[in-house]
Amino acid sequence: MKPKIIVHGGARRSGNNESERKTDVINACKTGYEALLEKDAVEAVEIAIRNLEASEYLNAGVGSYLQLDGRVRMDASIMKDDLSAGAVIGIEDVEHPISVARRVMETTQHVILSGPLATDFAHSEGFPRFDPRTKPKINLWMEIMDEFRQKTTYEQIFHVDKYLKEGSLNLGTVGCVAMDANGNIAAGTSTGGLKMNVPGRVGDSGIIGAGTYCSKFGGASCTGHGEKILILCLAKKVLNYLKHKRAGNAMDATKYGVEELNSLQAPGGIICIDQEGNIGYAHNTAMMTMHYIE
Ligand code: GLY
Repeated sequence: MKPKIIVHGGARRSGNNESERKTDVINACKTGYEALLEKDAVEAVEIAIRNLEASEYLNAGVGSYLQLDGRVRMDASIMKDDLSAGAVIGIEDVEHPISVARRVMETTQHVILSGPLATDFAHSEGFPRFDPRTKPKINLWMEIMDEFRQKTTYEQIFHVDKYLKEGSLNLGTVGCVAMDANGNIAAGTSTGGLKMNVPGRVGDSGIIGAGTYCSKFGGASCTGHGEKILILCLAKKVLNYLKHKRAGNAMDATKYGVEELNSLQAPGGIICIDQEGNIGYAHNTAMMTMHYIE
């Protein structure tokens, strides 16, 4: 079987820094594909997502949005077609949440570790301490906080979304689905969450079945409005379209997935590879930075 890989750098409403994002997404895809020529699908997914997490232009790992309290907390998940899965939610002080998610999958009895104990797990496993905040993201946080302080009371602080202009809860997440030469499939997703995320908020990217899913029918990774993707169990739903033959291929399955997002007026997108190795992608936002090699 010819290896295939598809990578996304997030669904977005606007195109600032799009060329830098595109370059980083293409490079991550190529690096993942090179890995696929010698290694298995899960290795390629981890390698591609590590590249995406290293990009300051993408909202995952380095360059993640700061949360309301000025800290970065990240979510990531990874899954293989044998239904093994691992995820971290609200992890801090690491460069590559996707690698910690893989470590959860491969070395623990669990699927998800969350919060400070996920961070402790990462450090105890030897992942180095790393502050993923970048200067542009810190400056952006300070600008918003300046305006925010003038408009809010302490009691209102958890309703930050009401004080941000419509559409400015910027999205952006990264993800990858790969099929190796033996036909094994893996999928993964990583994010810094929403801009000015309320601490404690959980989005879709660290939840198996919502942001990421993989089975013998294919693999999928989602991007967009996490709350709505969670409610839809969107990645699993896309795979169900394939399993129950409601969709003939990955492209149709992602289109049906976007129809589900549309039904909730939710911005977002999906990438997918089905068991025949067909590539699929769809989004309802102005753009979704993505690249694939087949
Ligand atoms: N889709 C990423 C998030 O909502 O956290």
